[in-house]
Amino acid sequence: MKVTIVGAGNVGASCAEYILIKQIAKEVILLDIKDGFAEGKALDLTQTTSTLGFKSKVLGVTNEYEKTSNSDVVVITSGIPRKPGMTREELIGINAGIVKSVSENLLKFSPNAIIIVVSNPMDTMTYLVNKSFNIPKNRIIGMGGILDSSRFKTYISKSSGYPQDQIEAMVIGGHGDTTMIPLTSLAKCNNKLLTNILSEDEVINIASDTMVGGATLTKLLGTSAWYAPGASVSYLVNAIVNDTKEVLPCSVLLEGEYGTKDLCIGVPVKIGKNGFEEVVQLDLNNKDLEMFQNSVSAVKETNSALDGLI
Ligand code: NAI
Ligand code: 2OP
Repeated sequence: MKVTIVGAGNVGASCAEYILIKQIAKEVILLDIKDGFAEGKALDLTQTTSTLGFKSKVLGVTNEYEKTSNSDVVVITSGIPRKPGMTREELIGINAGIVKSVSENLLKFSPNAIIIVVSNPMDTMTYLVNKSFNIPKNRIIGMGGILDSSRFKTYISKSSGYPQDQIEAMVIGGHGDTTMIPLTSLAKCNNKLLTNILSEDEVINIASDTMVGGATLTKLLGTSAWYAPGASVSYLVNAIVNDTKEVLPCSVLLEGEYGTKDLCIGVPVKIGKNGFEEVVQLDLNNKDLEMFQNSVSAVKETNSALDGLI
């Protein structure tokens, strides 16, 4: 399998590192616009081969899309990240142009690839790719919900004391501080409902910490996070490459599911070698359904900034 990652910055390089260490793909291409940057990251990563013990290969290139030919999966992380105090939505002006031109170049050389969109505002960028190119919707997947769910599990674990591998929890909706929906009523620790383990206040705090999870890290780091984002992308790549059929929250084009049409937003989907294979309908309570509708409206509002680009 061949995986191309566009954007050799924090998230792209970290994603490449996990794909290599876990040997998810035989060949990884890192592509960046900055002269020599991807080459440098690839050389540095290659020099971890003997100490970390993997066989996968990585090649770095500056804008040489020919080298990405026949990729099975392409990941788009190119663009600018948040700075402290910025929302993901504020990145749209610069990132929309970058995501569109990068996708066009990638599709020229890998017309059958599955595209993972990471650049923010991610739901809107995923919609942009869907609307700009005539390719099946199942091959375009936005990654945000896997990361938000991993933050949700972290806060649940901290508060409940349960180890993360005993926690089932999912975040759906938009990948934004006010649009994501941590599904507290469905979350479980060792098969026990979270709401039966913790107090109402504790559950509310977990949900609000999750929602500002990205902003908390941006404030601490001065830019947005990369280890958990990179790991979340590599998890999704693995589900595609190894056809795991795992149900993961991803941003995909809805055509009636969850009462929503013509919008990309986070919902649980079954992931396999063909991309997302089906949207899984959850039995949501009225409060979560109302939050989902609010999230839909907010993502639609952000999408309106794409006028003229699609
Ligand atoms: P970064 O600044 O470290 O890396 C971005 C890279 O993209 C840079 O190396 C830059 O040279 C490159 N780039 C810019 N324009 C390009 C082009 N036209 N072609 C090729 N490369 C180009 O940023 P970071 O932290 O890696 O974040 C990348 C994006 O991912 C941001 O938009 C950020 O908001 C988003 N993000 C999304 C997450 C999610 O869960 N969906 C999580 C974390 C970040
Ligand atoms: C994050 O959630 C900013 O989307 C980025 O860390």
